[in-house]
This record gives sequence, structure tokens and C-alpha cells, in this order.
Amino acid sequence: MLDLSAIKASLPNPIRGLLLDLRRLAFSTMVFPRSEGNCHEFSANLHLTEAFLGDSSVAEECRKLIQHFGIQTVIETGTNVGASTKAFAAMAPEVVSIELHEPYLKQAKVNLRGHDNVTLMQGNSPEVLRRILPAVKKPVLFFLDAHWDKYWPIQDELRAIAENGECPRSVIVIHDFHVPDTNLRYERYYGRRLDMKLVEEAMRRINPNFGYYYNCEPSQGRTGVVFFYPRDIQAPVSRP
Ligand SMILES: C[S@@+](CC[C@H](N)C(=O)[O-])C[C@H]1O[C@@H](n2cnc3c(N)ncnc32)[C@H](O)[C@@H]1O
Repeated sequence: MLDLSAIKASLPNPIRGLLLDLRRLAFSTMVFPRSEGNCHEFSANLHLTEAFLGDSSVAEECRKLIQHFGIQTVIETGTNVGASTKAFAAMAPEVVSIELHEPYLKQAKVNLRGHDNVTLMQGNSPEVLRRILPAVKKPVLFFLDAHWDKYWPIQDELRAIAENGECPRSVIVIHDFHVPDTNLRYERYYGRRLDMKLVEEAMRRINPNFGYYYNCEPSQGRTGVVFFYPRDIQAPVSRP
């Protein structure tokens, strides 16, 4: 097999430095992929991408958490065309996924044909959460991944979960999250980044005793993810 680290080590120092600079440049452009506000006018790209942007460790971690905490329902915000929804359909008894834009939802319906445990809902995620949470089976794994529009719903989503009052034993996974001291990509809106400071107050209202961990290995994928779990229940042992 090709040993890239050995090849890199054999390069003269200035070339190694140049490679590192190019990598940093690539990552810095990935962190801010869109213009001011990190949002865009809606124009649908209906291609089915890989679930979790191809980072299989996120799927594995969610699967473990679902089993360990006896999760009954996965609620995803930001269906897009259903790549991650399809992955969740194979992990949990029920999946509800919420998407704002109808063209995405229509395509997701096609992509998810035959997955009878999936319910797709159209609307603004915090509003839909408020409507459906009283009736869904708990505990829930929330996968919060709704963004790209002018309005950034993450804090209102967390408020809606807190208001419900029945979710302290749930698991909350936030995609595109800033993971300190790594080059993993993260979301940023109007100068604010998606990090612990942005969500901690709302998280404390849901459960003051949440523990959390990140997908901190850069080799695991290009995008940061945070996993919050109820600390009064032991977390799965293999977590990082
Ligand atoms: C990053 S994509 C989701 C990717 C998908 N979870 C996956 O991994 O395949 C974000 C999606 O959130 C949707 N979205 C943006 N704002 C929303 C809102 N307020 N409520 C619901 N969905 C929203 C966008 O239309 C977009 O399809």
C-alpha cells in the first residue's frame, strides 16, 4: 500500500512546508464556503450525496448511541434529498425528517421510497418540532443539520426541544460544528460560528447534565460533529 507519510517525510523541508500551506488554504476555504452569512438564495441541487458527507464514523457513532440509549425516534432537521435520512432509517425504529424546501423534499420522497419507518415533513424546523414533539416516542436522537437558508434555525430548534420538557434523556447530534484545535469544517453565519458558546445555554435548558464529545480525529472526516448525551446514563465505551 502507498505510505504517504513516508513519502512526505522524505521530502525536503521547504516542499513539506508548501504542502502544509496548501492544505491549510484548502481547509480555510472549506470553513467559509459561501459568501456573507454563509447562506444562499435557494436553488435546488437534487443530487444524492453520501450520508454525513462520506464520514462513516458519524453513522457508526449514531448507531452506537441509538442502541445504547434505547432511542425510539430519530428526528432530523434538514432532510435535503435524504442521504442521512436513509442512513438513519436503517438504525432506528422511527425517523422523522424536516425540510423547508419542497423541491428537496420531493426528491427525498423518491430517494426514500420503500423506507416505511420514515416520515418526511415540510416546514421551518423549530415550528415543526414544536408541533410534533408532544406525540413522538421518546427518547429521541436529534440530528440537527438545517442550514443554508437566510434564517439559521439552530438556536430556535434547541429552544423548541427545551420547551417540550420531555427530552432530557435524548441524544443531540449537531453537524458542521466547530471542533476546537482541529481543521474540521464548521458552519458560520453572519460572523457567528456554530460552536459550544452558541449552543451551551440552550443545551443546559434541555438537560443541565449533558455530557458531550466530538469527532475530533481529522482523519475521520472533513466536518465537525458534536454528540451530546445524558450524563446520568453511562455513554458507550468506545466513544473518543
Ligand atoms: C446540509 S443540508 C442537510 C443535509 C442532510 N442532512 C444530509 O446529510 O444528507 C441542509 C438542509 O437544511 C434545509 N433547511 C434550511 N433551513 C431550514 C429550516 N429552517 N427548516 C428546515 N430545513 C431547513 C436546507 O434546505 C437543506 O436542504
